[in-house]
Amino acid sequence: MGEHGHGDPNEPGAVIRAGEGDPGRYAIADPGLPPHRPRLADEDPQVAKRSERQVFVLFLLSIIGTITVFVAYFAIELTEDLQMLRLQNTLLGVGVALSMLGIGLGVVHWAKTLMPDHELVEARKPLRKESERQEAEKIVGDVLEESGIKRRPLIRNTLIGAVLLAPLPGIVMFRDLDQSDDFGVERMRHSLWDEGVRLVRDPTGTPIRAADMTVGSSMHVVPENLRDVPGHGDRLTEKAKAVVLLMRMNPDDIETVSEGREDWTYDGIIACSKVCTHVGCPVALYERHTHHLLCPCHQSTFDAANEFKVIFGPAGRPLPQLPISVDDEGYLVAQSDFTEPVGPTYWERGEK
Ligand code: FES
Repeated sequence: MGEHGHGDPNEPGAVIRAGEGDPGRYAIADPGLPPHRPRLADEDPQVAKRSERQVFVLFLLSIIGTITVFVAYFAIELTEDLQMLRLQNTLLGVGVALSMLGIGLGVVHWAKTLMPDHELVEARKPLRKESERQEAEKIVGDVLEESGIKRRPLIRNTLIGAVLLAPLPGIVMFRDLDQSDDFGVERMRHSLWDEGVRLVRDPTGTPIRAADMTVGSSMHVVPENLRDVPGHGDRLTEKAKAVVLLMRMNPDDIETVSEGREDWTYDGIIACSKVCTHVGCPVALYERHTHHLLCPCHQSTFDAANEFKVIFGPAGRPLPQLPISVDDEGYLVAQSDFTEPVGPTYWERGEK
């Protein structure tokens, strides 16, 4: 590598150092470092002690934040009362924020008030020789020494405690990936739809006659027995699984009908799960001319004329179709539950 003082300044890799060589060749002289100004904590042991206590309090706050997360996660029992869910979410958020902020602010405050702040300038060079490696080791040792971590056990111990505890809430929350009955695919396999259950408008609950649907129309429907589910929370869960998009098209526009599905529609009226098979957003946009359904989250597009197969986007499988018919009074009813689990496609489902 060439040095500007010894070679051609246009030579690749030349190093320019302000103030070296011919001073007349540089437009701006090296201003050097500003004079060092000692901080209050450098001169007054009382101030240093106070700063130490402040850093200790910040690390302690981090530990309290982590403990808050554990308490909120394990001690608050979720019931039908959504207030408890809100309380838990609030405490989880506040706890994680305290846990991270406490460590971050503590380290910054420590560095700004207690660690030595003299300026050092060193040219950068490759660490190739053993002597340089030892020098680097020495620098690390000096940094540890100057940080005062050995002399300030109060700060050191709370920092160790805060850093060790902070990642634990994240690890514990992996528990929610549990594949037990409560969280597994089985829970998505059955919905409230069953033979003879009427399709009703949401939220009025009024049943729908086939004649109410004009060609090109679509509506969001739920099962009539949803109103019988006790408890607000459970009702919301069941609704999320059972919600259906109903649309009517010209029967001649239906292009694909697989074996066994010949009677799943009624005079061009067709129904599918509204839960996107990508990650579960509501598929809500129906384009009457193309019969395409669009999920607004990541633009997965499904073709209602071809059994809701995916024609664009990240969704992994078609939207489940609900077999429908009409009852004796002319109201639209389900023939059965969905024949496959609704919702996102997971590897555990063994499906593509
Ligand atoms: S959730 Fe529908 S495309 Fe992603």
